[in-house]
Amino acid sequence: MCGIIGYTGFRPALPVLLDGLARLEYRGYDSAGVALLENGQIQIYKQAGKLAALAQRLNGRQCAGTTGIGHTRWATHGRPTDLNAHPHSDCGGRFVVVHNGIIENYLSLREWLLAEGHVFSSETDTEVLPHLVEHFYDGDLASTLIRVMEKIKGSYALVALSKLEPERLVAARQDSPLVVGLGREENFFASDIPAILPYTRSAHILADGELAAITRENAAIFDHAGKRVSRPVFAVKWEAAQAEKGGYAHFMLKEIHEQPRALKDTLRGRLAEDGRVELKEIALSADELKNVHKIFITACGTAYHAGLVGKYVLEKLVRIPVETDIASEFRYRQPLIDRRSLVVIISQSGETADSLAALREAKRLGAPVIAITNVVGSSIAREADHVLYTWAGPEIAVASTKAYTAQLIALYLLALHLADALGTIPAKDSRALVEELKSLSARAQAILDNCGPIKEFALSHAGCKDAFFIGRGLDYAVAMEGSLKLKEISYIHAEAYAAGELKHGTLALIVAGVPVIALATQPHLLEKTLSNVKEVKARDATVLALATEGMPEVDKVADQVYSIPATHPLLTPVLAVIPLQLLAYYMAVARGCDVDQPRNLAKSVTVE
Ligand code: AGP
Repeated sequence: MCGIIGYTGFRPALPVLLDGLARLEYRGYDSAGVALLENGQIQIYKQAGKLAALAQRLNGRQCAGTTGIGHTRWATHGRPTDLNAHPHSDCGGRFVVVHNGIIENYLSLREWLLAEGHVFSSETDTEVLPHLVEHFYDGDLASTLIRVMEKIKGSYALVALSKLEPERLVAARQDSPLVVGLGREENFFASDIPAILPYTRSAHILADGELAAITRENAAIFDHAGKRVSRPVFAVKWEAAQAEKGGYAHFMLKEIHEQPRALKDTLRGRLAEDGRVELKEIALSADELKNVHKIFITACGTAYHAGLVGKYVLEKLVRIPVETDIASEFRYRQPLIDRRSLVVIISQSGETADSLAALREAKRLGAPVIAITNVVGSSIAREADHVLYTWAGPEIAVASTKAYTAQLIALYLLALHLADALGTIPAKDSRALVEELKSLSARAQAILDNCGPIKEFALSHAGCKDAFFIGRGLDYAVAMEGSLKLKEISYIHAEAYAAGELKHGTLALIVAGVPVIALATQPHLLEKTLSNVKEVKARDATVLALATEGMPEVDKVADQVYSIPATHPLLTPVLAVIPLQLLAYYMAVARGCDVDQPRNLAKSVTVE
């Protein structure tokens, strides 16, 4: 989720670009850059680090140019360095491009372009774009971009500038947002609305597969065949603060709703045409994997809960014992790790002190370490032997949501990769799971389109003092995450319990009216789970059951049932957690809590 800005008009471009990028900084970034067209030449200024450092470097610089593009990078491919920062240019410095998204087939394109004699200077997927423009340029940047779009696969919002077409910018969009800002004697491109608000509240929202070309006087939209498209002007009603949240009331709600995109992005480029999982990032040979006798997963908080799901999935598919540990325990318990262990560290921020210490302990004991993290170039990413990035984009809210479901996707990919390498499941079963993985994004969207019943239950129970989450197997792992979400943003005392364990003590706390959220998505455990629901119903608890479509027996025992779309039982955690995130969110809002910055908590706990 990078920040993109493009400007052409009557003003000096540099201040507009820097101001626009500053308004996008909530999207997170690790490097920044601008390209300006001045006296017929393109000047590029870019560097790793925060935007303020770039602005400082350019402070006071007289820039006559009135056309330019700018970018703040949230790294996916290639560490945050000066060379990897955008904009990127072609060999001859005639074309520059900024990009937000993931070019899935960049490696094959890069090889082809290198064979054609192009010279690359970065390790990014983006850099193939200006070289493709250079290769296909036919005198018109818009028709050239159409050719480029035919070659690339993946997600992109890109803006191109050429010194051969001064005062003109062209952009294209597929799966990554891009807006056209419409001013008087000036026009804009931006990856998000806040960047254009000081200048205009009139915009066009580009649709997938569309291009746009702007000059000082004109803004035109084309479809992927180059045909003009007429588009009504979108009048922006949001204030800047609300615009940063994409119109949502809180970053947490925005990030919950970004999950379909985060799931799709984390799969991008990791599924081969024949349906196999292809993880180039895990450079462990089949022989090295055959040597693995035990897998350890260690993390904190929500990442730890993702690890609990990972345990079930890895043991089921890879048939290797998996031990999960809270990182702050792991690092002090002299874990029985050796060279025949494989350690997986999960961390959204990649900076959590306990998780980083656990990584170092694992390496000290000689085990290979795989990191699953959302931040390129983070400490955990740098120190791990292999890194499987989640591509959820920056997660601003303290309560982790899209990072968790993206971590689950990464764990499924890892499990299928290991299962394929070790031959522990038939290829057809692996392919079937991959097909189901690809469908999760749409199923998650279906849940998000049906928040009503969850909101209703949340509002009717927002005053409760205690809440319990119960489940068996994978449902228990998800119950743990649901309980944490509710606790950390609504301050309600919530507990997750293995449903079969309630009668061994905790049942004493179940009294009339206590809300119990019962997860019942696992067909082979349904009967047992329903008997536990009857146990709490017999004590007059109020039960919201979270079931899978096609489980009518659940209706007979629960007070309210929310059904998630059916999918492979191993994959239900990705979907089942979404209603729990929404439940926590709506209860916290009803209680007037600070949803994005809950009391006592930090987004990344970089101290012990
Ligand atoms: C999750 O909602 C919490 N904010 C917290 O438990 C978090 O998951 C934990 O601190 C681990 O953070 P990490 O994933 O960045 O390592």
